[in-house]
Amino acid sequence: MISFRFQTIGQKLLPLLNKPGSSEHGVQRSKADNGTATPPQKTEPAISPPQPFNLSTSTIKYLSTLNLFAYLCALFQLSMISVSNLSLRYGKRTLFEDVNLKFTQGNCYGVIGANGAGKSTFLKILSGEVNQTSGSVAFTPGERMAVLKQNHYEFDEFSVLETVMIGHKELYAIMKEKDAIYMKEDFTEKDGERAGELENLFAEMDGWNMESNAATMLSNLGITEDNHYKLLKELDNTQKVRVLLAQALFGNPDILLLDEPTNDLDIETIAWLENFLADYQNIVLVVSHDRHFLDAVCTHIVDIDFAKMSIYTGNYTFWYESSQLALKQRSDQNKKMEDKVKELQEFIRRFSANASKSKQATSRKKALDKIDITEIKASSRKYPAIIFNNTGREAGDQILQVENLGKNGNEGILFDKVTFMVNKGDKIAVLSQNSLATAAFYDVLTGRDTDHRGEFKWGVTISTADIPNDNSEYFAGKDENLVDWLREYSGTEADEQFVRSFLGRMLFSGEEVLKNVKVLSGGEKMRCMFSRMMLQQANLLMFDEPTNHLDLESIEALNNGMKDFKGAILFTSRDHQLTETVANRIIEITPKGTIDKLMTYDEYINSSDVAKLREEMYA
Ligand SMILES: Nc1ncnc2c1ncn2[C@@H]1O[C@H](COP(=O)(O)OP(=O)(O)OP(=O)(O)O)[C@@H](O)[C@H]1O
Ligand SMILES: [Mg+2]
Repeated sequence: MISFRFQTIGQKLLPLLNKPGSSEHGVQRSKADNGTATPPQKTEPAISPPQPFNLSTSTIKYLSTLNLFAYLCALFQLSMISVSNLSLRYGKRTLFEDVNLKFTQGNCYGVIGANGAGKSTFLKILSGEVNQTSGSVAFTPGERMAVLKQNHYEFDEFSVLETVMIGHKELYAIMKEKDAIYMKEDFTEKDGERAGELENLFAEMDGWNMESNAATMLSNLGITEDNHYKLLKELDNTQKVRVLLAQALFGNPDILLLDEPTNDLDIETIAWLENFLADYQNIVLVVSHDRHFLDAVCTHIVDIDFAKMSIYTGNYTFWYESSQLALKQRSDQNKKMEDKVKELQEFIRRFSANASKSKQATSRKKALDKIDITEIKASSRKYPAIIFNNTGREAGDQILQVENLGKNGNEGILFDKVTFMVNKGDKIAVLSQNSLATAAFYDVLTGRDTDHRGEFKWGVTISTADIPNDNSEYFAGKDENLVDWLREYSGTEADEQFVRSFLGRMLFSGEEVLKNVKVLSGGEKMRCMFSRMMLQQANLLMFDEPTNHLDLESIEALNNGMKDFKGAILFTSRDHQLTETVANRIIEITPKGTIDKLMTYDEYINSSDVAKLREEMYA
């Protein structure tokens, strides 16, 4: 039956579709390959479209064993990624077990899962940075892949323009090798030959226009020319992510992998990225913990849980609600099967009606009709216990006095004439239009940066602990396990059991506490930072974007921990709900002084008086 369908479709369409490259075999990256991000090596055929006009019996037989879907993708030259029997183990821990998935062109897949579930690792397997234990990943021939990594600090020391050019890996490598040869003092004949080869390749690949193309791409993404020669670290976080996106897009990828792109982004830039992805025609896999963003961009959800990965059609809300329904139905032992089916149909009907405004309404509705809710598993997500319990010295009345504090960045004033006094019980949201200003403000208050104008004075009873936006200095170059790492911050008398109990509250148990800190995921590093902060027993806490990298369960635990803390807090967060529920005072640090209001965040952003003030302060 299936072979008949292949025959019919194949014989009708192939004569019409003699596209260049359509007879090429698929490319596959299996366990043994150590592939690079752009184009993977060719090996055994993964998907093998037949030759036009020439369907031999053996080809038809072969095709009948293949998936119709995979075949049609290859036939129409659509991009596709096919993951087969993929497993990955780290010691005793199984991260993935027998994963089988397909990703196809035109779809945007939201990859979700708890911190440490394996989202970044999965993207790294696709891009060839990490080798799986067994199984394979196959691509349509000639596919280009680009990645925006979770770490936004990796290219800090590169210029903006160079960061983008690095995105075209082959061309950039040629340029670097060429430059290195010309720099040589003892330039040999062999060097001359190699330089000649490289020059030819460079010209063939339009290398001479590389810089101007990169500049155009940057300008199209809203990065103006005066920023192109700055170092990446000199840019505001929102601009930085745009540059990293330009890098990913520069090689003109067929497959775009984005690992938590909305970390560090403001609402406007997130909206811009949502629009950008909505119009993007190629395959996108995007890891995110941001529910609103996932709903806006995803056509499918890939959930990583129980070492398995499953693809669900629909956006995040649909996945979430259906998994909640699955949970409820499973616990409802006595309910009859027909009732369950009815309930499911009603749910899908309601959801389809809501989704009908979206672009993909028709196809999504069709797909939803086919969903079998028994396949949706209840989630295994857990909540860490983030409790900042100060059992040390209580804070006196003198907490912190800040007077005329000011700091310049490379581009001029970041903040100036900042004056305020912290009172008991203050939970202050520190705002600025420029994320470099708030980061610099915490650097000054923590003493990491002593080069500033004005003064500040901590009360004698005050002990502080802080979580900076960039925590790499706590982990870079460290070669120790979690217990030893945390012991450094817990005083000499702390025994292993004591340290383990703190790690346990952060969901690290058993063998997990013995893994090296350098392999930790983004969210796991944050959980270690929270353990450290909890151990410090400070009576004043500072946080700069603490929800970056956190899964929804950890965000909720942190939110409660901050609300319940009895001491004072200074914090900066783009998480609206967290800021609204924690802050009882808002201080905006601007180039012309402070706006200081005893009100909630919502009151602050909705106040016309504040809006007027802000206009003046940033003018
Ligand atoms: N080389 C390694 N050895 C042992 N464990 C590792 C290694 N590399 C990664 N891990 C572990 O694998 C798990 C998955 O890591 P990964 O970075 O993929 O998580 P993630 O889902 O992206 O999490 P997050 O949301 O926090 O970014 C983590 O528990 C991590 O500590
Ligand atoms: Mg990750």
